[in-house]
Amino acid sequence: MGEEMQINNQDLLNWVNEIAALTKPTNIHWCDGSEEENQKLIDMMIASGTLKKLNETLRPNSYLALSNPADVARVEDRTFICSEKQEDAGPTNNWMAPAQMQETLGKLFDGCMQGRTMYVIPFCMGPLGSPISKIGFEITDSPYVVINMKIMTRMGAKVMALVNENTEYVKCVHSVGMPLAAGQKDVTWPCNADTKYIVHYPEQKSIWSFGSGYGGNALLGKKCFALRIASTLGREEGWLAEHMLILGVQNPQGEKKYVTAAFPSACGKTNFAMLIPPKEMQDWKITTVGDDIAWIKPDLNGQLRAINPEAGFFGVAPGTSFKTNPNAMLTIAKNTIFTNVALTPEGDVWWEGMTDTPPAKLTDWQGNEWTPGCGRNAAHPNARFTVAASQCPSADENMENPAGVPVDAFIFGGRRADTIPLVSQAKDWNTGVYFASTVGSETTAAATGAVGVVRRDPMAMLPFCGYNVGDYFKHWLKMPNRVAKTPEMFIVNWFRKNEQGKFMWPGYGDNMRVLKWMFERIDGKAHAIETELGFAPQYKDIDWSGLDFSNDQFNAAMKIDNEKWQMEFASHKEFFLTLKNSLPTEFINIQETKAMAFRKAGAPASPEATM
Ligand code: GTP
Ligand code: SPV
Ligand code: MN
Repeated sequence: MGEEMQINNQDLLNWVNEIAALTKPTNIHWCDGSEEENQKLIDMMIASGTLKKLNETLRPNSYLALSNPADVARVEDRTFICSEKQEDAGPTNNWMAPAQMQETLGKLFDGCMQGRTMYVIPFCMGPLGSPISKIGFEITDSPYVVINMKIMTRMGAKVMALVNENTEYVKCVHSVGMPLAAGQKDVTWPCNADTKYIVHYPEQKSIWSFGSGYGGNALLGKKCFALRIASTLGREEGWLAEHMLILGVQNPQGEKKYVTAAFPSACGKTNFAMLIPPKEMQDWKITTVGDDIAWIKPDLNGQLRAINPEAGFFGVAPGTSFKTNPNAMLTIAKNTIFTNVALTPEGDVWWEGMTDTPPAKLTDWQGNEWTPGCGRNAAHPNARFTVAASQCPSADENMENPAGVPVDAFIFGGRRADTIPLVSQAKDWNTGVYFASTVGSETTAAATGAVGVVRRDPMAMLPFCGYNVGDYFKHWLKMPNRVAKTPEMFIVNWFRKNEQGKFMWPGYGDNMRVLKWMFERIDGKAHAIETELGFAPQYKDIDWSGLDFSNDQFNAAMKIDNEKWQMEFASHKEFFLTLKNSLPTEFINIQETKAMAFRKAGAPASPEATM
């Protein structure tokens, strides 16, 4: 396999030899990305028990992998930005001096691929030949990573063909961190349960990952390259790498706009990107460009254009159903890798929320027998599917367009049970950046650690910004200098709850109603009132056809509670204190003015506030 590939880059060859000398694999395999290669790896992993083939009739050409229970999500506390200076990593990233980290990793990687094959994966983030795209090489000892990278990126010989002596590329080194002694039998999900490191060297544009085989820890093109390293590239080169979906929205008159939306992990990007409008609004059409990451660059005319650097979806399975996201269900009907979902007796998959009534019997994500009411999850809450984006019924016609799509609006949101109204529109760029930078969100199962804790998650980039977050805010504030017209900015919250703990807003397809208002706001056609947060729709400004949602319900979902907002602005200030001198001065002014306005308008938050 792969013999036909020409490798005409000496630096690349040297680097691969260097890593091989360090990690001491039994074999080296250069991936050509062919179907034949893919099938051989799949057959090998079925034989070893890493993959199980699903029922060919019910789920053609699809597979199930069950991970080690100690390796189920991104490990934010083990993720490092190793810039030369600590202040360049900023207050939100773990940091260690590069030399010290290299010493630590040097020891861990020494011989770590013994008994295994080392795969070299040439990959491209973005459409082949796009001026926005970037090339990377991932060295890994995980065949599971190879078959996932084949779906998630453009991979193999077609990328190698673009590489010459001068090609710049991001160096990605990954090991599951479990060498095999001579004769030692492998496990079905090798990983290192004790030691994990996800390390980025922003100055060298390189990534080293040790000890995990799961998702963003191991598929290094995704969060490590396309967000953490790419955000530093974007800062240097004048563009943006964002944790955003990209969708097209077309009105009944056939006018089309593109918007991008940043929501934290497991907060609805995949759902929103593939939204199907309610029956009564079928003359509106939504198309999907991407569900997780956007690279956004001004073109020669100063128009911001976005590409999806990925070629596939690594989507959250639980909660995905024909009710919540029919397009996702159709996308994953075949040619899909499922990880940590449950298995039905017929050899198909199931997860919480897929159907109203669970099957009578399942094999759960840990391989144990499962029955309804047994008290355990059948699927892990961060169970995922890996599938080609091209299989999505709502795939946008410009998904592969090397020029990207024009961006008409940015939407930001988080998962907040209170305080944040359903939708508001920022009055100007700077206040929009302010609100996007101070978005709070409840943590989800997408990362290990506590779930449901509210934390500031600026632009949904808290775990993904590869440099000082204060500098990142300044980079955003400078965008108007680089573009002819800045996109409109909106803040949304699909997750507000009532006193009974129920979501106030139906969400999913009904988010189309909010998107329609935004579309018409961009054109300056929709009505809005002014609020302390910017512009907001009134009940009459939203299309309610086919939905029974009262004026009172709407007002509750839109309510700007004065006391809650005094607390919110106090919490912004607390967050700003951690940024020290990297905090943009613009933010101090906005924080003070807004906090003052809320104090004046409402009940005093504290005795001092009355003075
Ligand atoms: P990552 O892939 O982790 O970056 O996340 P994502 O933002 O793509 O997450 P995804 O769309 O898969 O979100 C999954 C979770 O959000 C599930 O629990 C869904 O049920 C829930 N969800 C998505 N859209 C909505 C919505 O409009 N309202 C409510 N209440 N929940 C939603
Ligand atoms: C996220 O956690 O935001 C994801 C999944 O998109 S992972 O690739 O594992 O980071
Ligand atoms: Mn994500």
